[in-house]
Amino acid sequence: MTADDQVDMTRSQVFGEVAEMYDIVRPGYADALVTEVLAYAALDGQAALEIGAGTGKATLSFAAHGVPLVCIEPDPRMAEVLRRNTAHCRGVRVQSGRFEDWRSDGRRFGLLLAATSWHWVDGERRWDLAHDALAPGGTLALFWNPHGIRDPEVQTVLAEVDRRHGLVGTPHRAPASAYGERPGHWAGAPGWPEEECRRDGRFTDLRAVRFREHRHYATDRYLALLASTSAYRVLSPDRRERVLAETGRVLDARGGGIDMDHFSDLLLARRPA
Ligand SMILES: C[S@@+](CC[C@H](N)C(=O)[O-])C[C@H]1O[C@@H](n2cnc3c(N)ncnc32)[C@H](O)[C@@H]1O
Repeated sequence: MTADDQVDMTRSQVFGEVAEMYDIVRPGYADALVTEVLAYAALDGQAALEIGAGTGKATLSFAAHGVPLVCIEPDPRMAEVLRRNTAHCRGVRVQSGRFEDWRSDGRRFGLLLAATSWHWVDGERRWDLAHDALAPGGTLALFWNPHGIRDPEVQTVLAEVDRRHGLVGTPHRAPASAYGERPGHWAGAPGWPEEECRRDGRFTDLRAVRFREHRHYATDRYLALLASTSAYRVLSPDRRERVLAETGRVLDARGGGIDMDHFSDLLLARRPA
């Protein structure tokens, strides 16, 4: 990981400010990813532990398959939306707090999920915490859904807007083509954990899988998506408004909207039986 990728508590706590917007504009994860995780995990009724469940983008997909889930979420505003979204799911329990402070009370899980949240957990402790939370034979499933701009010319212009406003870690840092073909082949943060997992040495059967889908966003929708990300949340409201307005003008001058490739990149690993 680079210096930009270090856990930054300011950034990790910004999502709650826009919990409702996050819930509306953020994309979920490919159905095929959920199927892949469940086939690998072969849960047979065992429950899953979800780290940083947010508003439930991944939670709801797993709950729809009848998986009982304990969801850990430290931000009370995200947790409130999560509780509302999962109120109809009898097997879902939401617990407040960070994974680092969570007490298992001896309970072990068949599956540990982290959807766009693993990088927020303390890098010194996360492998220990995950290992301890899993039952022997249990599955670790870490996944992210980065997106890249399909048109390299649009990407270059938007990257220049970001540069002038001092933004880092936006989807404009590289075109979709730079994401390559392999899972985790990203141009920077948050860092793909496969090597770290191998170095840790306690997990086996590592499997990395990528799912890709094309999506077109209308300008307003795209600006709302950007505004829900930590790169934009850490800006002052004035600066955020200015950079989003400029981004919108760039898109509208080219006919409006933007074409993106959405990746769902998944790393699976197992705690040996
Ligand atoms: C980018 S959001 C992802 C939310 C959801 N999993 C999703 O895919 O939409 C990251 C989430 O991780 C949570 N988080 C941050 N630090 C955490 C920690 N130390 N332990 C558990 N969750 C954490 C944040 O509150 C936030 O809800």
